[in-house]
Amino acid sequence: MMENKKKNENIIWHEGEVNKNDRRILNKHTSAVLWFTGLSGSGKSTLAVEVERELRNRNIHTYLLDGDNVRHGLNAGLGFTPEDRQENIRRIGEVTKLFVDAGIITLTAFISPYQKERQQVRALLDKYEFIEVYVKCSLEEVENRDPKGLYRMARCGKIENFTGIDAPYESPNDPELIVETDQLSLQDSVKRVIGFLEQNGYLTL
Ligand code: ADX
Repeated sequence: MMENKKKNENIIWHEGEVNKNDRRILNKHTSAVLWFTGLSGSGKSTLAVEVERELRNRNIHTYLLDGDNVRHGLNAGLGFTPEDRQENIRRIGEVTKLFVDAGIITLTAFISPYQKERQQVRALLDKYEFIEVYVKCSLEEVENRDPKGLYRMARCGKIENFTGIDAPYESPNDPELIVETDQLSLQDSVKRVIGFLEQNGYLTL
């Protein structure tokens, strides 16, 4: 009978001939993830889309992973229980690690409500590769915006486990950047993110 081995015991990591540093040299910039976290409706995707556009204008290689889109494909089938959200973020973390290894400035827009899961993604990456951007917006304001009508549905019990209503959002303790979207214009929010990347040398080698 087969021994009770871990499923991946006989799988060995195979190094390629081209490494992350080679790819960064080719791209002429460093790679990292801008990890946008915040309530639904806080403006994560909107901000990430505009930051990506601005980076493209500066000839930076980017890729945007967005919660609503990834849940149609890679993470189709995952819901919003704590376990499913944890698995959602774990997979995104692994994908992010690959994109950063590919030499790309990666942008992710997921609520990612739990400190622990965000911390685990940070731990997967090298120092300075994980840039946590807290997209801060009051619950009052996101409920007011309610772009998808989901808060209204959550308030009357038509959706369960809705972040901010009957599921928690644990705000970051020490994010690299806080962008208050209920205080700043979109243009100024983009400037803050791009300014951070510039000042910290991410856009050159
Ligand atoms: S996360 O918590 O696992 O990080 P993710 O960012 O992928 O969430 O997906 C959030 C999006 O799913 C929201 O913007 C919203 O459109 C939709 N959604 C559907 N049901 C829920 C829910 N119960 N809580 C939060 N968002 C939900």
